[in-house]
Amino acid sequence: MSKVYKIAVIPGDGTGPEVVDEGLKVMSAVADKFGFKYETGTFDFGGERYKRTGEVLPDTAVADLLGFDSIFLGAIGHPDVKPGILEKGILLRLRFELDQYINLRPVKLYPGVETPLADKKPEDIDFVVVRENTEGLYTGAGGMLREGTPNEVAVQESVNTRFGVERCLRYAFELCRKRGGEKKLTLCGKTNVLTFAFGLWERAFNEIAVEYPDIKTDYAHVDATCMWMVKNPEWFDVIVTDNMFGDIITDLGAMVQGGMGIAAGGNINPKGVSMFEPIGGSAPKYTGMNIINPLAAICAMQMMLDHLGLADAAAAVERAVMEVTGNRLKSMSAGKMGMSTSEVGDLVAKLAVE
Ligand code: IPM
Ligand code: MN
Repeated sequence: MSKVYKIAVIPGDGTGPEVVDEGLKVMSAVADKFGFKYETGTFDFGGERYKRTGEVLPDTAVADLLGFDSIFLGAIGHPDVKPGILEKGILLRLRFELDQYINLRPVKLYPGVETPLADKKPEDIDFVVVRENTEGLYTGAGGMLREGTPNEVAVQESVNTRFGVERCLRYAFELCRKRGGEKKLTLCGKTNVLTFAFGLWERAFNEIAVEYPDIKTDYAHVDATCMWMVKNPEWFDVIVTDNMFGDIITDLGAMVQGGMGIAAGGNINPKGVSMFEPIGGSAPKYTGMNIINPLAAICAMQMMLDHLGLADAAAAVERAVMEVTGNRLKSMSAGKMGMSTSEVGDLVAKLAVE
């Protein structure tokens, strides 16, 4: 019996369900062509469910999701729900409880996609950010004193464990080796000010680097990283950084690679259940109009296929996406593509199996 991949699908809010449908359409096409089998289970987590039931994530969710090989997520975020509730209660909770300690964000300019950086071409913009995904400023460590009074105090601490930092760094070194590009790993930190946190990161980085003599190591402060990402993105191969800096520089990365229509990411637990998502959010104003760009979700699907070890299928999807961006789409923006959401999905599905 050949393996049947079990995929949990969380369509989520806004345009999430529409783009997830296109990702699954592409998966179905390449499954036939490359001869793998899968089944899906759908979960209704998101704003609508929360409004209906008052429950953000049922207590059984994590146990249920542990029964799957991967999770394919659309978008979380609802205009009627106070910011923070769904993000923390669904997205961050799943990242933490499934121990998805890597947030992987390729920043790659595909042919035909417009970047706001003047004179930069696809060969200049092709790097990956490895963001630590379970520690740093995201753990909720800290607290409030005299909240809501004129004398209130807020402390929010960054938690950096040697264990958490090392496993993230090792993942980045391995990925850098596997990519086989320039083999350069840049640590992005703030060693001049955040001396405790990034002192630890830097020591661990230098120690582990000894085990990877084939990889060039490099360091940039986070503020300088932002400058170079705009001025000289070709300097980067793999960047590794903490949770908060990674959050910020990957939004910059998404813009550099042509915007939210194309940017995808993976929340990875290398030995567990990983979750793949377009990073653009739920775009509520475009819901149900069949005009949102589904390529980010299709790219998230492509990352999932690659993660599952279906490298041929993943490569076919990426080639199809590049043909669509390079020769078929008028623009990457919702409503301006010259095609509907489902037509883009149909086209990628067709090209991926040609
Ligand atoms: C991301 C998002 C999340 C984060 C939010 C929605 C909690 O911005 O995936 O980058 O901050 O990690
Ligand atoms: Mn973010």
